[in-house]
Amino acid sequence: MPASPQVPDAPELLVLTHIQAIDPGSGLDAVVDIVVEQGRITRVGRDAAGEELRRAGRVIDGTGLWALPAFVDLHAHLREPGEEYKEDVASGLAAAAAGGFAHVCCMPNTKPVNDTRAVTEAILARAAAVGGVALHPIGAITRKLEGHELTEMADLRDAGAVAVSDDGRCVGSSAVMRRALEYARTFDLPVIQHAEDHALTEGAQMHDGPTATRLGLRGWPRVAEDVIVARDVLLAEATGARYHVAHVSSAGAVRILREAKSRGLRVTAEVTPHHLLLTDEAVLGYETACKVNPPLREARDRQALREALADGTIDAIATDHAPHSSLEKEVEFALAAPGMIGLELVVPLLLDLVRQGALPLSRLVDALTRAPARIVGLEAPAIAVGRRAELAIVAPERRYKLEGLRSKSRNTPFWGREVVGSVELTLAGGRVVYRRAPAASTGGAEAR
Ligand code: DOR
Repeated sequence: MPASPQVPDAPELLVLTHIQAIDPGSGLDAVVDIVVEQGRITRVGRDAAGEELRRAGRVIDGTGLWALPAFVDLHAHLREPGEEYKEDVASGLAAAAAGGFAHVCCMPNTKPVNDTRAVTEAILARAAAVGGVALHPIGAITRKLEGHELTEMADLRDAGAVAVSDDGRCVGSSAVMRRALEYARTFDLPVIQHAEDHALTEGAQMHDGPTATRLGLRGWPRVAEDVIVARDVLLAEATGARYHVAHVSSAGAVRILREAKSRGLRVTAEVTPHHLLLTDEAVLGYETACKVNPPLREARDRQALREALADGTIDAIATDHAPHSSLEKEVEFALAAPGMIGLELVVPLLLDLVRQGALPLSRLVDALTRAPARIVGLEAPAIAVGRRAELAIVAPERRYKLEGLRSKSRNTPFWGREVVGSVELTLAGGRVVYRRAPAASTGGAEAR
C-alpha cells in the first residue's frame, strides 16, 4: 500500500521496533523502539513499545534499518512557476519525500523569478495544496536576477522566504553585494551566493583543466569561484551579515572558507553530492548529464571538499536538484543546460562515502539535518519525545538499481546504476509522506 505523497497518510499510532536510531543532535545511536502517536514522537527507548501498543498500532519491524532525523535541503530547483514540464511543486516534493527529506528550500530562478511577495506566496500556496514535505522559498537578491536592483527583502521575508539568492547567476557587483548584505542583515536573512565571476567564465562549458583541453571545450577556471568567495568574505566581515556559499566546488574556496571560519565570521557553505563524488573526467564522451554549474572539478578539489565536509568547514550537503528534460540535455554539449537531479539520490550515493571511510555517518546525518536547518533558521528534525515525527527510515544494505524515480526529469549520470542503501519510509510534519513499494523479490519495510 504505497503512500501517495499527495495524500499524506496520518496513522494514529505507528510503532517502529528494534531500529538503529541515529541522531547526532542528541548523541543518540542505539537500537530502540520509536512510537509515533498522532504525528508526534511519544516514546524512544529500548523496548519502549509494549505488547499493547504493538497490537493497537501499525508496526514496522526495524531490524536492520536505521531511523534518522528527516533531511533538510537548502538548494533545489522545483521549476514552478514556468517550467512545469521539467518539475513542479508536486513532483518535486514527491521526489523529496522519496529521498528522505521533510524540508526543501527552493531557488528563485523560476519563470517569473521569485523576486516578489506574490511569487513567494503563490509557491507556498501550491505547497500547501500538495501537503507533506514542507517547502521554504528562497527569494531573489536582485530583481529578475539581473544583479542591479535589490528586491524588497522585507516583503519576501514576510511572505515566508527563508533566505535570498540569485542562484544560477552571481551577484557580480561589489557595490550591489555590499548593499544586499547590509539590507539582509537588518532581517537576519542569509545571503546565498552562486560564486562565479562571469567575466572569467564567458562561454565556459566545463572545468578548465586537462579534460577540457582534450575535449576542446572552453574552461571555467577555479579562480572564478575563489575570487568571489574571497571578496564576499571581506564584505560579510565588513557588514556583519550572514553569508552562505552555494555548491562550493574548488579547493581554493575551501581554503578561504576555512580561514574565514577560523576568525569567527558568520560564513557558511554547502556542497553537492555530485561535487563530492565525481570529477571532470565524468564529462568525457561529452556527457551532458555531467554538465553542471559550477562544473565538476579535479580529484584534488574533490578531496578538499570531502575533508572540508568531514571537518565542518563545509557545513551542509545540498542537492542542487536541477531537473531538465531531454530537450535541454539530449543536445550538443555546448547547448545543453547545466544541472542534474539529486533529491532522490542522497542516501544511495552518499552512503558509499561512509563505507569508504571518507565521512563519518554522524557527520553525514548532521550535514543533512541540523546544519542546513540552522543556516536558514528552521527547527531541525530530531528523534526526541514530544517532537513532530520527521524521520527518514533507511535500509543501509538494500541493493537495487536507480530507476523509476519520482522527479519528472531523469537527468542524472547515475540513472540505472546499481546502488546500496535506500530510503524505505519518510515522515514529514508527522505524516507518512513516502513508503517504498516492496520489491517483489526482496521485500521492503512493510507496515501492517
Ligand atoms: O547546474 C546548475 N543548474 N547550476 C545552477 O546554478 C543552476 C541550476 C539550474 O537552475 O538548472
